[in-house]
Amino acid sequence: MLRVLQISDTHLSPTKRHFACNWEPLRAWLVEQKPDLVIHTGDVTVDGADQDEDMSHCAELLTGLGVPVLSVPGNHDVGEAYHPHQPVNAERLARWQSHFGTDRWVRDLESWRLIGLNAMLFGSDSSDEARQLAWLEQQMQQAGERRIAWFLHRPLFIEAPEEGDMGYWSVPPAPRAKLLELVRKHEVAIVASGHLHRAHDLVLDDTRYIWGPSSGFVVGPALQPGMAGATSLGAVVYEFDGAGFSAAIHEITALQTLWIDDVIHEVYPPRAA
Ligand SMILES: [Fe+2]
Ligand SMILES: [Fe+2]
Repeated sequence: MLRVLQISDTHLSPTKRHFACNWEPLRAWLVEQKPDLVIHTGDVTVDGADQDEDMSHCAELLTGLGVPVLSVPGNHDVGEAYHPHQPVNAERLARWQSHFGTDRWVRDLESWRLIGLNAMLFGSDSSDEARQLAWLEQQMQQAGERRIAWFLHRPLFIEAPEEGDMGYWSVPPAPRAKLLELVRKHEVAIVASGHLHRAHDLVLDDTRYIWGPSSGFVVGPALQPGMAGATSLGAVVYEFDGAGFSAAIHEITALQTLWIDDVIHEVYPPRAA
């Protein structure tokens, strides 16, 4: 049996230390779990998209866990498609790569193929987006009998696969449709995401869609009115046993419930147009 832990949205920085107090309790819990692998589903940093020291600080923290870690980038790590101030681009992706390795990866564990995706490319209409999709199709085709689990920052959808554009919160409808086609064709067992800072577990057409909670901070209802899922901090525990698996969202009670609403003006101040 293999134990994989998903963590997400740590939002750490050596200069903006608003959520730093939650690293030590997370670290202690992770090490105590004796995982075979830890997967970070993005927003590792407060602002790695612009601050190199956020990247080096967080890479050091993850290495310091002393267990294998694979990460995929979030919007605060590499920017996002068509963002006026922080567009995802070659320079930002190169910075990610130099600190955390490739922005997409495949890891075969016994009967499973785990695939990490760079969700920030979806909807960017870039050659890199096309390359990643072609790479993904190839990895799926070559999976053979292995069951497949995806890990990415943004969820494919919030309420329903056919919903319209949810803006900031999820993958836009056009790239989403292509990804869902692959999910169905290859019977993807797990689609695990972060970004929302909410914990949620939904089964749809035999696919488990899991929103991994943040271990850094939660988001108040003013910013996410009526959104599904639970306002809690923690991680997700996956156990892979042959072709079977279990997945459980685990609330880590040692984490301090910090609200972004209280500090957003300091952590992510609005920019002049
Ligand atoms: Fe986040
Ligand atoms: Fe995010």
